[in-house]
Amino acid sequence: MKSLTVDAGETWALQSYVKYDGFFSTPTNAFLIRGKEPILVDTSYSFAAEDFLSTLGQLVDIASIRWIVVTHDDAEHIGNLGRLLELAPEAKVLTPFIGYGKLCDTAQNVPLARVHCIGPGESLTLADRTLSFLRPPLFDSSATIGVLDKKTGHLFSSDCFGTIVPLSYSPVADDVNVLPEAVFFQLMGDFNKVNSAWVHLVDRAMFQGILNDMSGMAPSWIFSTHAMPIPGEKWRGMLATFAGLPDSAPFQAPNQDVLNAMRAAGLPLPR
Ligand SMILES: [Fe+2]
Ligand SMILES: [Fe+2]
Repeated sequence: MKSLTVDAGETWALQSYVKYDGFFSTPTNAFLIRGKEPILVDTSYSFAAEDFLSTLGQLVDIASIRWIVVTHDDAEHIGNLGRLLELAPEAKVLTPFIGYGKLCDTAQNVPLARVHCIGPGESLTLADRTLSFLRPPLFDSSATIGVLDKKTGHLFSSDCFGTIVPLSYSPVADDVNVLPEAVFFQLMGDFNKVNSAWVHLVDRAMFQGILNDMSGMAPSWIFSTHAMPIPGEKWRGMLATFAGLPDSAPFQAPNQDVLNAMRAAGLPLPR
């Protein structure tokens, strides 16, 4: 687990990744906003619990965390939520009501008393900043919530704007600019149309309208749970990439015959 700040210690990415031998890697991050009321955005994997909690504990007194944004209920977003709620007794979970419902479906039952329900279009003013909540344009769970920190202009976008990373690069040692920009946009587009396969079904004008509405947001950094931190100058190119996704070729997943052929060709696929 690596920690990285983009603003002299106020906002941190806690970066890890999963490597799919023979294919690519995908980053998986959680984020910490250190302020008067420390905020965590997502909680990483449970299988990396000790590494995650130790890295987090070097950045903040975990007991002082006041808010935990659960951007949705997938395992790599809620892996350490139960532990954190024990370690941070004042912390409340920020998630939509459907997010609370989905947490009840997991092994991590979160008492409603520990939840502060928020939804797209709502804001929450804390001691030193206002958080503005939104539904990212692409998502894989109807519980998904993104958040814009109005103090810093940082957008935490959940799965949206994630990317796959070629095996020749490291999702934690390399920053996103090591990828030529056109390659990054291509890989980000691929990740998002796999993660949100329904993008090919959308009403084109309506989807473009959503992207148009977002263009003025101009975040200073985009923090996707599944990308290296992305500087804001890529924002317009990212939205333009999204605009092309509905009519792009749908992702064709390899079937067993293709996997067998790849193995026969000597590619080091996972066992
Ligand atoms: Fe997801
Ligand atoms: Fe995810």
